[in-house]
Amino acid sequence: MIAILGTGKMGEALMSGLLRAGFKSGQIMATARRVERAEALRESYGVRVVSNIEAAKSADTLILTVKPQDMAGLLAEIQPYVPADRLVISAAAGITTAFVESRLGTDVPVVRVMSNTPVLVDEAMSVISAGAHAGEEHLRHTEELLKPVGKVLRIPESQQDAATALSGSGPAYFFYLVEAMVDAGILLGMPRSAALDMVTQSIVGAAIMLRDSGEHPVILREAVTSPGGTTIAAIAELERHSVRAAFLAAIEAARDRGRELAAG
Ligand SMILES: NC(=O)c1ccc[n+]([C@@H]2O[C@H](COP(=O)([O-])OP(=O)(O)OC[C@H]3O[C@@H](n4cnc5c(N)ncnc54)[C@H](OP(=O)(O)O)[C@@H]3O)[C@@H](O)[C@H]2O)c1
Repeated sequence: MIAILGTGKMGEALMSGLLRAGFKSGQIMATARRVERAEALRESYGVRVVSNIEAAKSADTLILTVKPQDMAGLLAEIQPYVPADRLVISAAAGITTAFVESRLGTDVPVVRVMSNTPVLVDEAMSVISAGAHAGEEHLRHTEELLKPVGKVLRIPESQQDAATALSGSGPAYFFYLVEAMVDAGILLGMPRSAALDMVTQSIVGAAIMLRDSGEHPVILREAVTSPGGTTIAAIAELERHSVRAAFLAAIEAARDRGRELAAG
């Protein structure tokens, strides 16, 4: 039995992914803070919506998907009811496995996960790290739960803040890029919807080529950059405006902000 505690956007996306992957609604429990939310989850998914305490007592795997600021409260509530053989998966940005372990106060295995919004379309990038008491079997079990909603990578916990900045926030950078390119299309006199179609299909096509060809991005870019041609004229402008340096600085700033938020 799997329980999702604090079933908001991320919890619901994970739950619907598990159901699409073949888990039965009888194998999943959810918890919510508000009665209307509980009712909506029951109605949409047919899962049992229970209290945090009941979930902690009866599920083998607890997936915590509350916001980071709600984590301490949730852990304090369930602490007396979490036996040491439960797997606890924490999906809250910036919350360390040590924080969860110290609040639960037992040798409970904890795995930390950072996922991203494409979880909604089964294309998430989820990175996972084991806590002090989590071993191979716990990582493998976590991978099995997350694989239906995208790709899963194991990383040392020391790299979680960097992963949050790179792939956790990553989709936002691409949305921003699309926005900027659509503006360029409009500047060139194109209708907004046509520009959006062209840019969206270009980013989807490029992403699939990158993922499926296994080629380095430099090789793929060079293939469409002819000497003295149009693409190199654009690249020259991107370089002149230090776009690469801006990405390095931006993602470093996101990592630093994540650390600040985690420190409270
Ligand atoms: N959304 C993303 O793209 C994303 C990406 C990566 C990581 N994450 C992580 O996922 C976590 C959840 O984010 P989210 O966007 O899904 O937030 P969210 O929609 O606010 O979901 C959290 C849910 O937990 C409920 N809740 C809070 N305290 C509770 C308690 N004690 N018992 C039961 N339910 C409780 C909230 O209830 P109310 O509705 O009453 O507030 C809310 O429905 C965050 O820690 C975030 O760092 C999210």
